[in-house]
Amino acid sequence: MPVREPMLAAPCPPAAQPAAASAKSIYLAMSQGLERQPEAAHHFLRRCLADAEALPVALPLDPSRLDNWSQRHVLDVGAAYQDYLARRKAGAPRQYFASKAAALYFLRAVAPTKLVDGAWLYGVLPHWQDVAFHGLIRTYLEELGDGVADKNHVAIYQQLLATHGCDQWHDLSDEHFEQGAIQLALAAQADQFLPELIGYNLGYEQLPLHLLITSYELNELGIDPYYFTLHVTVDNGSNGHAHKAIAALQALMARADDPAAFYQRVLNGYRLNELGACTTSVIGAFDIDKELKRLLADKAIIGKDMHSDYCRIEGKAVSAWLENPAAIGDFLDAMTRAGWIQRGQDAAASRFWGLVSGPRAEMFGVFSPYELQVLRDWIEQAPGGASAARREPSYRARQRNLRELAGSAEARPAAMRGVIRHWGQAANDGGAAGQNALRVFEQQVAECGGKDAAMALLGAAIAPSTHHTPVGMMATRMFAQLLDA
Ligand SMILES: [Fe+2]
Repeated sequence: MPVREPMLAAPCPPAAQPAAASAKSIYLAMSQGLERQPEAAHHFLRRCLADAEALPVALPLDPSRLDNWSQRHVLDVGAAYQDYLARRKAGAPRQYFASKAAALYFLRAVAPTKLVDGAWLYGVLPHWQDVAFHGLIRTYLEELGDGVADKNHVAIYQQLLATHGCDQWHDLSDEHFEQGAIQLALAAQADQFLPELIGYNLGYEQLPLHLLITSYELNELGIDPYYFTLHVTVDNGSNGHAHKAIAALQALMARADDPAAFYQRVLNGYRLNELGACTTSVIGAFDIDKELKRLLADKAIIGKDMHSDYCRIEGKAVSAWLENPAAIGDFLDAMTRAGWIQRGQDAAASRFWGLVSGPRAEMFGVFSPYELQVLRDWIEQAPGGASAARREPSYRARQRNLRELAGSAEARPAAMRGVIRHWGQAANDGGAAGQNALRVFEQQVAECGGKDAAMALLGAAIAPSTHHTPVGMMATRMFAQLLDA
């Protein structure tokens, strides 16, 4: 890929003129290929930056103080986390997730952002010959797990969603796509918006308190927090992504014709992190009544024609109850009055639960693991009160879980570091067809006329839409090795 000269000193480019596209439409298009919707993405990014200007900024106005600021931030987060742990030890309930359903709701709601994790940094890959960009490029490659499947952040998150049946997220509202759309738009226009990209990266890579609390509470609920614990370590300010973010900013700002103007744009890019849905807003939005009704209303659209007239609640056929999805709450009330649902008791005591859960259930497979969890927690939670059916683990038990978690992380299979193909990974590589695709790609790389052409080919293969495929991971390993060769 040719070396491009980024616009280090030019003013932020003017807005393009196409009609405003939604964050969701931009996300859904660009997550399939960054070349899609370029004008809409430019306009969207400009609009986001204009919105961001009105927000306060937590960064020091003097860039020479960034290192101190970052170190202070880590100390403050650590102290706040210790306070949290002390509260929990004293018996306080979970701060974020009152139930497992709440935690799974969160995983699904942030999926659009997590599934393009690191995407904004893709845009700096064309500068691989410039050592000042290497910290950012290394950060991108680490987001990709350096080409190892069980270290690739997007692949890990995909697996997490699939494990819990949370992978139906495309009907989320526009605000849930805003961060992901910003990341993809920055990737596609990295040279035009380089200071903003650097500022965005600086904000994204600082260790947040919510990451620590989320990891802790997911583990308590029996949900593998590896995706989150991984970020606690890689974002560290000593030698991790947070440190690389500041080093890259200082190196590139030093080259700018007007470093002060450059830094002002960095500040605004940093503010982009505040737009759209975020961890805490998503957590605060969970309402189990609302979520259950949403899930059942979706089922009702198809389910209303799937029940016989023999299925009756309070003398009314189930198909008639399901006729109006917006009134699904009336159906839940009727099942509760009729004793089909026993709120505040173990779900197993409810006849309705027996119809949907378990391999011999009449409606087996109709509900995903996530949907079942919402239903279960709703049943077991007494109306207007806390769950009567679940016992909270003791503080010691939670600590034991965390120690075991640390052990299991150490026991994860060692990364296979061969640069080219991992022949032993046939299953991961998609069997014979996958092996053939790897062979073809290897051949294409071998036929490149030189390092420039090879890096261009490899760079194209590790775009946000493809880096988590077998070919993308092989290309990542090769790109990482050639970077310093
Ligand atoms: Fe990540």
